[in-house]
Amino acid sequence: MPGRVRQWPWDEYPQKNINDEDFRKAKEAIIREHGAEALRKSWIEVCGRLSLITEDISVNGNKLIPIVPADIVLEEGFSPEVEQRIRETGCVVVRGVIPEPTARQLYSDLKQYVSDNRSQIKGWPEESPSMLQLYNSPTQHAVRSHPNQLRLQCLLNELWHDHTERTSSEPLVYLDGVRDRPPQQPFLGLGPHVDAGSLSRWLDPAYRRSYSAVFGGKSGEWDCWDLSVRQDAVQDLFKAPAHSSVFRAFQGWTALTPSGPHRGSILLYPNVSAVMAYVLLRPFFCPPEDPMEVMDASKWSFDETGCSFPGTMKDQSQRLSRTSHPHLRLEECLVHVPEIMPGDTVWWHSDVCHAVDPEHEGSENASVVYVAACPTTPTTKEYVKQQLADTLAGFQPKDANGDLKESMLAGYQGHASLSEEARKAFGYYL
Ligand SMILES: [Fe+2]
Repeated sequence: MPGRVRQWPWDEYPQKNINDEDFRKAKEAIIREHGAEALRKSWIEVCGRLSLITEDISVNGNKLIPIVPADIVLEEGFSPEVEQRIRETGCVVVRGVIPEPTARQLYSDLKQYVSDNRSQIKGWPEESPSMLQLYNSPTQHAVRSHPNQLRLQCLLNELWHDHTERTSSEPLVYLDGVRDRPPQQPFLGLGPHVDAGSLSRWLDPAYRRSYSAVFGGKSGEWDCWDLSVRQDAVQDLFKAPAHSSVFRAFQGWTALTPSGPHRGSILLYPNVSAVMAYVLLRPFFCPPEDPMEVMDASKWSFDETGCSFPGTMKDQSQRLSRTSHPHLRLEECLVHVPEIMPGDTVWWHSDVCHAVDPEHEGSENASVVYVAACPTTPTTKEYVKQQLADTLAGFQPKDANGDLKESMLAGYQGHASLSEEARKAFGYYL
């Protein structure tokens, strides 16, 4: 099937009770606050909605992911049609954010920088490092600080709203790593998952309050673009490298090389609100014993006392699988983003399920710089202030958890070439 993985390589997460106080507390608090009836109402509603959504995705695949040229978006903003599709799918490809020759040059600079410092730069997975623990290379800074990049992030942030007015769409830069993945190596590490925490979504009071419509029987009314409460959510209640400290309105990557389906790309599930609502409600229900009845949501029983959170691990992103989350029809609905060229960008809402392409059958490396869109929120401001202090002292950011002093690397340039606008986004005036 075009646009899908050919052979499902990822783990399944079985229904099994977890003997852990934090999991129990999270579930109890939500049942106490909203009650079984409201949870069941949302469950039936969401599963019904998903049957239409999955049908649409299974027919249309990655054609549902909106694709727009950067020059038009930067000039005119997102058209109402594109905006509507982003709101439904939670994702967008914006082409040519960095001019292609510039992006190719930046890739060549990165290769040189990494080769000059190879022995000091760590990567993951250990046997074939492709996710490089590098945060302050000249290439990454050039990509993050490009004026098109900052303008686009502002437009993406503006898709969210906040009636408390404690936030703004002015972008702040979150330093993340870079990937340079050689061809012909499978990568099975990051199957279907959602970032921005795992158990925190249920356990942290502010986080779960941002989903109260879902838990409260009104999942169809949940506004997944509302930052009013979400800005206070603690995503990293359980500190681990998988959890970022800051809120990313959109996660994203900027390509430095070409990639495509089965060639070291990324897979997205082009729906945000129904998928996340389903994931949130899933621990409250047990599947029927008869496998033939699994897709009938009304046959699932409310699980008041048991405690099964399939795919939820404190130190990992929220995982999803075919058997634990059957109504998502992951095999048909997790689709590759289309062909990508150097300088193109891919963006996905912080609640969108995604996976790293398990295959790379191309002939060139597939390289991307991770660049997210982060609005200015009180929590992010604090983090970015500290991040800037760390960079100026030569160190990696706190979330990186690394001990490499990057300022000692050959060719290190720090913030030498940042424009005024970029310095603002890097936190100089906070
Ligand atoms: Fe991810």
